Amino acid sequence: MSKTTILMFDSGVGGLSVFQDIKAKMPNLSCTYIFDNQAYPYGELPQEELISRTCQYVSQFVESHNIDLVVIACNTASTVVLPKLRQLLSIPVVGVVPAIKPASQRANIGVGLIATPATITREYTHDLIKDFAADKDVKLLGSTTLVDMAEKKLRKSLVDLEQLAKVLEPLNGYIDVAVLGCTHFPLLKEEIQQVMGADVVLVDSGEAIARRVEFLLQDKIKADDQHPLYRVYCSAEIEYKEALQVSLTEMGFGSLKIQPLKGA
Ligand code: DGL
Repeated sequence: MSKTTILMFDSGVGGLSVFQDIKAKMPNLSCTYIFDNQAYPYGELPQEELISRTCQYVSQFVESHNIDLVVIACNTASTVVLPKLRQLLSIPVVGVVPAIKPASQRANIGVGLIATPATITREYTHDLIKDFAADKDVKLLGSTTLVDMAEKKLRKSLVDLEQLAKVLEPLNGYIDVAVLGCTHFPLLKEEIQQVMGADVVLVDSGEAIARRVEFLLQDKIKADDQHPLYRVYCSAEIEYKEALQVSLTEMGFGSLKIQPLKGA
């Protein structure tokens, strides 16, 4: 009997932050984590290419693996790809989008949205701000440097706090709540907190996503879901693979395999 398994997707290691929240809530749930490093960073990828790559790569795995639910563990992709992907697949698709609503509820001074350069321009993001934070001052900060820093951290490289402070500097003094609107950023949470100071509350979507996945899978979890399997694939050769494998192994994953995007 196959185990209840979710497929998680991102451009890189960012979705692992969401994986950790899901694993904490559902320790018996199996996960196949896939990332499209060939087209990384998604925050700088033309929108049409992003939509077609995400749909193709995710469908490719759903067709060949036994998958019960998909998590698009990437804000940059989720803000544009969900309608098309839900049309293509017959299983539930959960997206990750910036946690503007809870952030706005907690903010007294202002909200900072830290995300990729693409996410801060998306109509979806601006609709979230209009709908849930219209009465707040929202500052937008798009950065690929932070995404790269999280990738390096998971390859066991030290985070440069001075560089981090420079990136976050435009938010200084304007906000009391920061939304980590890219799944890579919770991987840098301690460092971001250190640089921004203890008075700034950091909010991300990880726990809410874990609750949503638990709700959608509650009737599916099987008796044999005792020893979860964590598999990981990427779309192309990868730099510092051995160092990254150390982090993946620490999280319980098997060895990283390359599975190119079909037809690419
Ligand atoms: N982790 C992704 C996100 O949540 C994308 C990072 C990137 O590839 O630019 O937006």
